[in-house]
Amino acid sequence: MTTTTPTTALRQNLPDTTARAHTMTGERRMRNLQECVEQVLRDDVPSDLIETGVWRGGACIFMRGLLAAYGEADRTVWVADSFSGLPAPDPRYAADAGDRAAVDDYRAVHGIREQLVDIDWTGVYWRRDGAAVRSS
Ligand SMILES: C[S@@+](CC[C@H](N)C(=O)[O-])C[C@H]1O[C@@H](n2cnc3c(N)ncnc32)[C@H](O)[C@@H]1O
Repeated sequence: MTTTTPTTALRQNLPDTTARAHTMTGERRMRNLQECVEQVLRDDVPSDLIETGVWRGGACIFMRGLLAAYGEADRTVWVADSFSGLPAPDPRYAADAGDRAAVDDYRAVHGIREQLVDIDWTGVYWRRDGAAVRSS
């Protein structure tokens, strides 16, 4: 039997930003990250991996660990961050006021129509149809 204590429920859903935490990504999104990396490996998608906005880098460390566990030596994990926090919204651009607007804008600019799937209270993902598969 599995029990869910308040602490584990919190860790599944909310950022855990203790002084020693390497990531503020909750367990649900970490599991989703693992599933996405494993899907890329299973489908042999020719790609590097990137996290944009890494904070202390824990999710990238996790991705490196996954690649190492699967014996993948040819993929690079890219780490991108301003390392100075989130810039204040520019009042000239109303869409800057929320993260969701940025996601919607990105999808519109790149013609992405695939379904958005909720992971938890803050995380979503989608998978491009016809994603490139490595030919051997
Ligand atoms: C919510 S934290 C990311 C948490 C991280 N993904 C994790 O798993 O712990 C947001 C990060 O994005 C960075 N950031 C915010 N706005 C940015 C921008 N416009 N350009 C680059 N980095 C940015 C911040 O410095 C911060 O490290």
